[in-house]
Amino acid sequence: MRRLPLILSALALVVALFSLVRTPEPTGTKAPSQHAPEATEEHEEVEVAVHMGRIQRYHQKWWAAGHAGNAELAGFYLHEMEEAMEEIALARVVDEGIDISAHMRTYGLATLEGLEKKLKEEGVAAMHADAGLLANTCTTCHVACGHPYLRIVPPTAVVIPDQDLAPAAK
Ligand code: HEC
Repeated sequence: MRRLPLILSALALVVALFSLVRTPEPTGTKAPSQHAPEATEEHEEVEVAVHMGRIQRYHQKWWAAGHAGNAELAGFYLHEMEEAMEEIALARVVDEGIDISAHMRTYGLATLEGLEKKLKEEGVAAMHADAGLLANTCTTCHVACGHPYLRIVPPTAVVIPDQDLAPAAK
């Protein structure tokens, strides 16, 4: 019978150990959910800038393709811009209370859709004549997102030394 206290204290130890092991669990699950929005915000913010770098390059090439009268190539770059913008639209990026993803749908994607339609229905020259429209949309969205100093204009010249922008021979 002298073993009973020993068993009891062993049991108490097990209970204590168990609760020790268990206590971090609720805080462990709480902590990430409390910090998750912040973490994703930072993560997405980096991605927006990376996508923007690509979008800017495609914007230049799209303009140059339109300038060269290359409908196929201009359509290709419209599509590339669309894909990059769609990634931002789907990523639920909210930065300092501004819904960047929603703005991307309202400004960027809506304008690209209009340009795609114009290219299809009226041709590459008509689409190219609307180049200022896209640049304005870029800037308008930057203003809406709190970056009014990011002003985009249609390029006046684009140097792409390693790509022939003329329509391919068929
Ligand atoms: C959601 C609306 C939105 C649209 C539409 C948009 N942008 Fe942006 N852009 C942003 C945001 C937000 C940033 C800032 C990203 C950051 O804070 O890291 C940005 C940043 C930039 C930058 C600065 C980063 C760099 O690489 O220098 C450039 C350039 C840029 N955008 C170009 C464009 C061009 C060109 C277009 C149109 C073809 C465009 N953007 C359309 C939201 C937009």
